[in-house]
Amino acid sequence: MSEVLDLLRILGLSNALRMKSRYDEALPHLRGYATTTVLWSLLECGLGGRLLAAGDAGVDVDGFVREQGLDAHVMRSMLSYLDGISVVRVEGGQVRLLPSGRHLIGDTRGLFELAYAYEPLFTNLSDLLHGRKQFARGDVARRIEYVGRGSGMLCRDLPYPVMADIIARHGCRRVLDLGCGDLALVTFLCERMSDLTAVGVDLDADMIAYCRRTLAESPFASRIEVATGDLRHLDDLIASGRLAGVDCVTAVDTFHEYLWTGTDEILAALKKLRSQFPKVLFVIGEFCNQPHESLRRRPTAFLEHHLFHDLTNQKIGEAELWRRLFREAGFQIVEERIFNLVGHGYFALRP
Ligand SMILES: C[S@@+](CC[C@H](N)C(=O)[O-])C[C@H]1O[C@@H](n2cnc3c(N)ncnc32)[C@H](O)[C@@H]1O
Repeated sequence: MSEVLDLLRILGLSNALRMKSRYDEALPHLRGYATTTVLWSLLECGLGGRLLAAGDAGVDVDGFVREQGLDAHVMRSMLSYLDGISVVRVEGGQVRLLPSGRHLIGDTRGLFELAYAYEPLFTNLSDLLHGRKQFARGDVARRIEYVGRGSGMLCRDLPYPVMADIIARHGCRRVLDLGCGDLALVTFLCERMSDLTAVGVDLDADMIAYCRRTLAESPFASRIEVATGDLRHLDDLIASGRLAGVDCVTAVDTFHEYLWTGTDEILAALKKLRSQFPKVLFVIGEFCNQPHESLRRRPTAFLEHHLFHDLTNQKIGEAELWRRLFREAGFQIVEERIFNLVGHGYFALRP
């Protein structure tokens, strides 16, 4: 108490209160950065997953550090910080997740994984700003594995259930997923439809290598195939016969990667896909841009999402742009659902 009185005497009541409120205002920003960074390392070293699996039993910190060959001091610093903000509890050499930690790592991990995918852009922001580095020149790259993992985890909450509902109602049995990322959509579909098979195609060889590693452990390994491929040039894959029997083509958040330089490339790709698969159902999930004013009124996670995309030359199209492109490519829109709340739209198309 005397400490407080002493401070008030030196600073004055209004000055002390103003200072405290300013620091209270600033702290969540700094804490967000520190917490996010520490969580990334926790997930990356495998302790995040181990803690989730261990539940209340917790994990022996020294044992984990030894097993993974980590620096014990750095691990203790990280865990002490997370204990301080009540994300974990460290007691008697054991660490366990508290409810907030379980929510962060279990439920909303996709947010952190997607941010981790784009972290190199933030680390190099000043170099990008001063033109010393350029994304387009390949000086800085996103982490593709985490693009797939983060997107896959986030999409399980809304996009995949909406798309699975459309696909099930149309009775589709074999899905070709373009820009399949970590195979999260086709895995989600296989979990819900016991006779469905799928082929995932992705442009990025590292992404496909990750898929192959995880597929080896998947209960759906016999129903899911993967291939490196470019949705604009599927001719060889089609000729190989691997896409035979496909009755549904899906793509989630893949087409927008080509809007930066205009619509010609994506329009040509859509036209070509329509002619290659003239009888199948197309189910497309895409970001649908929201006016900046509505984001200002309700600053959702779409703001961070915009920033990631802007910095990596990806443009988000309005729902109307997607409608126009699909129609110009010769598709008929048979079903459409736009969720402005999350800035995402779903289109079922027939060639
Ligand atoms: C934002 S991620 C979406 C991943 C996934 N569809 C999902 O549901 O989470 C976009 C993916 O499209 C892939 N991609 C981009 N251009 C492509 C192309 N021309 N052909 C195939 N895949 C492509 C990227 O490598 C990346 O994995």
